[in-house]
Order: sequence, then structure tokens, then C-alpha cells
Amino acid sequence: MAIAASSSGRTSEAGPYNERVIRLFAIATMFWGVVAFLVGVVIALQLAFPVLNLDLEWTTFGRLRPLHTSAAVFAFGGNSLLACSLYCVQRTCRASLFGGPVLANVLFWGYQAFIVLAGTGYVLGISQGREYAEPEWYVDLWLTVVWVIYLVVFLGTIMKRREPHIYVANWFFLAFIVTVALLHIVNNLAVPVSWMGVKSYSAFSGVQDALIQWW
Ligand code: HEM
Repeated sequence: MAIAASSSGRTSEAGPYNERVIRLFAIATMFWGVVAFLVGVVIALQLAFPVLNLDLEWTTFGRLRPLHTSAAVFAFGGNSLLACSLYCVQRTCRASLFGGPVLANVLFWGYQAFIVLAGTGYVLGISQGREYAEPEWYVDLWLTVVWVIYLVVFLGTIMKRREPHIYVANWFFLAFIVTVALLHIVNNLAVPVSWMGVKSYSAFSGVQDALIQWW
């Protein structure tokens, strides 16, 4: 196969790696990091000076705290894990991303849409009240679609690899993708009150619900 130049100017036998989407995920990591830590500063100040809750439902500690934790864990942490895994899998497999630039872009923008949908919900008071699983059912369903696309892109790249050996890092990334899927789906099994409403009730009740939440 001809040696092709990658978008960074480096050459690779596998043809150009998709570095554009890695750059997008890296930029998103920094952007959401700034957002998360700024909201962290605000809620820290609210703990010291309760008047900063502003006596408005949208700006209370109760709504801004999950905004901080989710932005830190899912937006800052999540985007960096996506950048890291998609960077590594291409090089260790000597293959560009499965699905090409289109599927990679759908994955990127789909994940950012999940973050915005979740965050706007918190501020508006739309929450399941489950720590680290606050988004309501419609956001959860959207994340499930995005996560399946992530699995397809990642696994597809491993399957079309030109390097016979599967590097151990890729097994770990794969375990992370599957484990998050399992946790997300079981922890969020819920019955919406109506198709046009945002409210849902957990499929589990009482002690079982608490056990599922903290497993
Ligand atoms: C400028 C930086 C930051 C500030 C000012 C800040 C502030 C805060 C505050 C005030 C809380 C709530 C504490 C409470 O309810 O008693 C909190 C919780 C939390 N923050 Fe941050 N934070 C910052 C950076 C980060 C980073 C870098 C991460 C992770 C990458 C993070 C993840 C979390 C998590 C997971 C919690 C919940 C912890 C718990 O419930 O014990 N934060 N943060």
C-alpha cells in the first residue's frame, strides 16, 4: 500500500489517521474543563456565602452542584477519554477510524449534544435525582445511541486493523466502553410518565433502587 501523509504531516502505511476528530475532542475537553471548574468555583462560593444562591430556582446549589460534577466527570473526563482512546486505537491498529470522518463527526457532535441536553435539564430542574445519573430518560436514550456509535467506531477499527497483535490498551478501552454501557443501561431503567413529558420513575423501588444506584 502506498505511504500516505496524515493530516499532521506525518506519514503512515495505514493512510491518513483521523486526527481532526481527536483535535475536536481535545478542544472540547479544555472547553468543558473551563466550564466545569468555573461552576465549581461558583458552588464553592455558594457554600461559604449562601446569598449567592440568588434566591432563584435555576441558580441554587442543588441544581448547580450536579452541573459541576457532570461537567467535570462526563464532559471534561469523557471527552478526554474519547480523544485518548480514538488516538491510541488508530496508531496501535495502524488503521484509520472505522466509519470514516462522517461517523466520527456524528460521534463527536452526538456526545456534545448529550452534554448540552443533560446540563440544560439540571438548570431547569429536570433530574432523576440519582447522583452521577441525573439525566432524565430522553437524555439517557440519546446517550445510548451515541455510546453504540462509539462502540461501532472503536470495535470496527480493531477489526480492520493492519497490525496482527491487539495491544493491551485496546482491551482496556473496550472494557471501559462495555462497562459504562452496562452501568448506564441498568442504572437508568425507568418508565416515563408520558412520551411528551420529561418525568420518569425508576424500574426499581426502595432498597433495590438504592442497591442498583450504588452498585
Ligand atoms: C476549580 C476547580 C474546582 C472547584 C472550585 C470545585 C468545587 C467543588 C465543590 C464546591 C463541590 C461540592 C462539594 C460539596 O457538595 O460539599 C465539588 C464536588 C465535586 N467535584 Fe469539584 N471542583 C473543582 C474541580 C473538580 C475537578 C477537576 C473534578 C474532576 C475531574 C471535580 C469533580 C467533582 C466531583 C466528582 C464532586 C463530588 C464529590 C463528592 O460528592 O464528594 N471537581 N467540587
